[in-house]
This record gives sequence, C-alpha cells and structure tokens, in this order.
Amino acid sequence: MKCITALPALALALLALSACGSARRSVPVAGPMAIADPQVALGERVFMRECSVCHPRGEAGLAPGINNKPLPEFLIKFQVRNGLGAMLSFSEEHVSPEELDAIVEYLEHMRGRG
Ligand code: HEC
Repeated sequence: MKCITALPALALALLALSACGSARRSVPVAGPMAIADPQVALGERVFMRECSVCHPRGEAGLAPGINNKPLPEFLIKFQVRNGLGAMLSFSEEHVSPEELDAIVEYLEHMRGRG
C-alpha cells in the first residue's frame, strides 16, 4: 500500500526532472536514423502503430516530445500501462510486454543519437 501511494509523487518528481531540454525536430541532423537492431525495428513499428498519433516520431504533437528525455524505463512502462492526464493506458492485450520492451529500446535508441 505504501509503495502505491508513493508512486505518483515519485513519477511527478521524475517528470519534473525530465522536463528540461528542447524537443528534437525533424530536421535531419545526421541523416536518416539507421536501425540495424531487430528489437529497435520492432519498437519503431509498434511505436508508429500506437504512439505516433500523439507523439509523431517521438516529437511533440498533441502530446509532449519524448525523444529527448532521459525517462527511465520503468517510468515509460508505467505511463504506457496506466496512462496519465490526457494519455490513455495500453493493456497487455493491446501492447504486449515484448512490444513494450521494444518501444523502450526504440526511445532509448532515438535519445542516444546526437
Ligand atoms: C491519445 C494520445 C496519446 C497516445 C496514443 C500516446 N500518448 Fe503518450 N502522452 C500523451 C499525453 C497527452 C501526454 C502528457 C500527459 C500529461 O503529462 O498529462 C503523454 C505523455 C507520455 C510520456 C511522458 C512524457 C513526459 O514528458 O514525461 C511518455 C513516456 C509517453 N507519453 C509514452 C507513450 C508511448 C510509449 C505511447 C505508445 C504506446 C504513447 N505515449 C501513446 C498522449 C498520448
């Protein structure tokens, strides 16, 4: 019980920490992103299917940009499974645990660039 009540506060603190920095835009900095890792490629496909509507290619759209933030893995997963504010939640039937792992890898891959 204690753990559950502490989570929102922890999540907020991490969100505040991650709010710095400017979102990356589509202007190609180093050419198109080369994806060799099949796990990252799967992540990209699932991201395009489920997340890109609001976070176009990880950039800010209807929702904040998420391609430039040092969000920890558990927080990305928590946000996807539980939703927050205007973001809906995704069940395991909708986005499988393997697909969610792949999304996280894809986001980390984008972040590691530049
Ligand atoms: C219906 C639109 C919508 C979809 C689809 C969506 N999101 Fe979001 N997302 C949002 C909104 C709006 C926020 C900001 C929520 C808030 O802070 O109130 C957000 C916030 C986030 C954050 C936290 C960003 C931050 O600044 O801390 C992450 C991580 C995230 N989304 C990941 C995802 C992933 C991964 C997917 C696909 C599985 C996804 N989102 C799909 C609307 C969406």
